Amino acid sequence: MKAVGVRNGKGDADALFIEEGVADPVPTGNRVLIRIKAFGLNRMDIMQREDRYPYPLLPESGNIMGVEFSGIVEEKGPECSDDFQVGDKVFGLAYGGAYAQKITASEKMIMHLPSNLSFEEAAGIPETSFTAIQAIHLVGNLQPGQSVLIHAGASGVGQSAIQIAKVGGASKIFTTAGSDEKCALCRSLGADFAVNYRSGEDFAEVVKRETNGRGVDLIIDLVGRDYFHQNMASAAMDSRMVLVAALSGSKVHDFDLRALLNKRIWLLATTLRTRSADYQGQLRDLFAEKILPHIKTGEVRTTVDKVYPWSQVTDAHKRLESNINAGKIICVVEETWVFRGFVKMNLYDFTVYFLVSMLEIREWKWATQVRESTYNHEYRCVTVNY
Ligand SMILES: NC(=O)c1ccc[n+]([C@@H]2O[C@H](COP(=O)([O-])OP(=O)(O)OC[C@H]3O[C@@H](n4cnc5c(N)ncnc54)[C@H](OP(=O)(O)O)[C@@H]3O)[C@@H](O)[C@H]2O)c1
Repeated sequence: MKAVGVRNGKGDADALFIEEGVADPVPTGNRVLIRIKAFGLNRMDIMQREDRYPYPLLPESGNIMGVEFSGIVEEKGPECSDDFQVGDKVFGLAYGGAYAQKITASEKMIMHLPSNLSFEEAAGIPETSFTAIQAIHLVGNLQPGQSVLIHAGASGVGQSAIQIAKVGGASKIFTTAGSDEKCALCRSLGADFAVNYRSGEDFAEVVKRETNGRGVDLIIDLVGRDYFHQNMASAAMDSRMVLVAALSGSKVHDFDLRALLNKRIWLLATTLRTRSADYQGQLRDLFAEKILPHIKTGEVRTTVDKVYPWSQVTDAHKRLESNINAGKIICVVEETWVFRGFVKMNLYDFTVYFLVSMLEIREWKWATQVRESTYNHEYRCVTVNY
């Protein structure tokens, strides 16, 4: 198969290339083999690309980047249940290996693709949604009627966290983001107050004013160093702060522990990729119970920022590094289609198929839907390496 590799083992975005002749993964135990349609990009992919991933990678991670994907089940391992069948459309979370044409994943870590979602939309859901549900509920223990402050609200994790907090009954949702457009997006997702930190407005002052000086019950922090003192000022008595990332840096200067003692603040931190398969499976179940039904009704929106063909994975990484994205960046794994056997195709369908496959059409979402419908009409097409 083909997979995205990094020239010389590590480097910048320009070092990414599509490598041929990579060994196909084999589904053992309760793992299923999935032909990947789309994968989501995450910040950890950049660190892995640069060979500076901060945590020890589990053996299951392998060398190929990518922890979330959507695709079609091609084969089942010998210990799989009847939950998934060959041909099912699925999306899921993995420890690595999603920047490829094929992946194996535990059947505990995949879900059926809802009919209202495209492969591109679904591919960007697992990492951010599982992280957000973990931070808000499992670690943050948000209760209905409590208030929450979510930083980097327009990020993938932030957008999920805002919506999960809303569904979870948060009374007031505060958020921060780096532009007025991003703040407007956060409000459209359910935030009551969105502070553009580049405008000079102090989020701690907004929280103080809007909570009558009480502060918020829960802070979901992705920013770290630059916000730490203001976070302490924004926290209510007996509140929790869940550290998910430290985008601005991790060393806080001039920090007095008394700030925690004064308000009995629970300072917590969490990661997802380093968790056991059982723990991640529990998160999948929690997500399927609490959030997926709202995605199916459209109440919770997916957060696709931009879709690239995977041949442009370098551009996709550069966009992620630029911070201009508002939500998930997705790569579609392109396929070259050939016909075999008897093909029944009228001139119109063939013309559509030919245009989609042969011309450089940049509207990939539409292109994928046309390919999907072509496939669904039972034309005998197969994919080949090119
Ligand atoms: N702990 C975990 O298990 C876990 C899981 C998933 C992700 N993460 C981490 O969570 C973070 C967000 O991930 P994501 O995929 O949601 O990211 P994302 O969609 O790429 O968005 C990141 C956003 O953060 C904001 N930002 C960046 N640097 C900032 C700074 N110095 N100060 C304030 N805001 C800053 C930028 O938006 P603005 O324009 O608004 O500044 C940027 O667009 C990453 O660091 C990621 O590694 C952790």
